[in-house]
Amino acid sequence: MTKRQSLLSVDDLGRGGIERVLELADTFAEVSERLIPKVPTLRGRTVATLFFENSTRTRLSFETAAKRLSADTASLQVATSSVQKGESLRDTAETLDAMGVDAIVIRHPASGAPRRVTDWVDAAVINAGDGEHEHPTQALLDCYTMRETLGLGRGSGGFEGLRVAIVGDARHSRVCRSNVLALGALGATVTLVAPRTLLPASLEGWPVRVCSDLDEVIPAIDVCYVLRLQAERMREALFPSLHEYRERFGLTEERARHLRPGAVVMHPGPMNRGVEIDDAVASSANALVARQVRNGVAVRMAVLYLLLGAPVEVGLDEGLFGAEPELGGRAVGFGA
Ligand code: CP
Repeated sequence: MTKRQSLLSVDDLGRGGIERVLELADTFAEVSERLIPKVPTLRGRTVATLFFENSTRTRLSFETAAKRLSADTASLQVATSSVQKGESLRDTAETLDAMGVDAIVIRHPASGAPRRVTDWVDAAVINAGDGEHEHPTQALLDCYTMRETLGLGRGSGGFEGLRVAIVGDARHSRVCRSNVLALGALGATVTLVAPRTLLPASLEGWPVRVCSDLDEVIPAIDVCYVLRLQAERMREALFPSLHEYRERFGLTEERARHLRPGAVVMHPGPMNRGVEIDDAVASSANALVARQVRNGVAVRMAVLYLLLGAPVEVGLDEGLFGAEPELGGRAVGFGA
């Protein structure tokens, strides 16, 4: 089999590629609204999920996206697989590849594991979260949700001038890194709000501002993107207590009152309600958490289409700017 293109980082797409995914996601969102939300676009393709870390949203979202495109799906349950007998990542990946799967959607605790897998397989590799490195499809669905909710589409000036605060545990967050890359590429202004101990060791090359005072930032932003406090990745005490963290960096009900009218609240999930975000804020009308999840399916349909919809000889760039998807036997252009 000829080697397929992969999606490992937001940087693989660039601004043009990100915009292409967002535009295609509009088309696939329309498919998801149909009575029977299924099109034959990827009939005959197989998408395998290989998750070495827990997931609710990402795995189900990719599997739903693949099924809506009529691809077959295969889900390797690591806990009951031969990984438990000591099988290596390479042997596991090569086994899936030998079965002829077209894409491997992988989540792994080691940063860089998906990139390593591309050395061993011909299938497209899609990074569904690797350690503290990246989670590109989360950032794509987040940008799609901002664009949809805040009216940042064509003719609006797009993301230029959009002010986004990413709040909390940036140090351990692959979601943060991917969003910084995506929002930076699209022209948004990003401020990281975190205690010094929860910032990445180096911010060199990151197109961000940094602030440690959430109260100062809150009234001047369009999007408050709250990160999960990733206790499972902390090997030392990085703040005095959960109570103090909430007091200074939590999006509390009181703090959320100072958001501008029309400003929105986002969180990638899963949420620690009562720690980084208050229950009432997470359930408020301007919180987009459920919308993020819903949009994730359309965005992942777009990504699967771009990687698997074109003939394998077509490169990612050509695929990104190539033909429109066949949806139900007719080619549907944007806005159709
Ligand atoms: N946002 C996200 O990656 O969620 P899951 O861990 O549930 O997949």
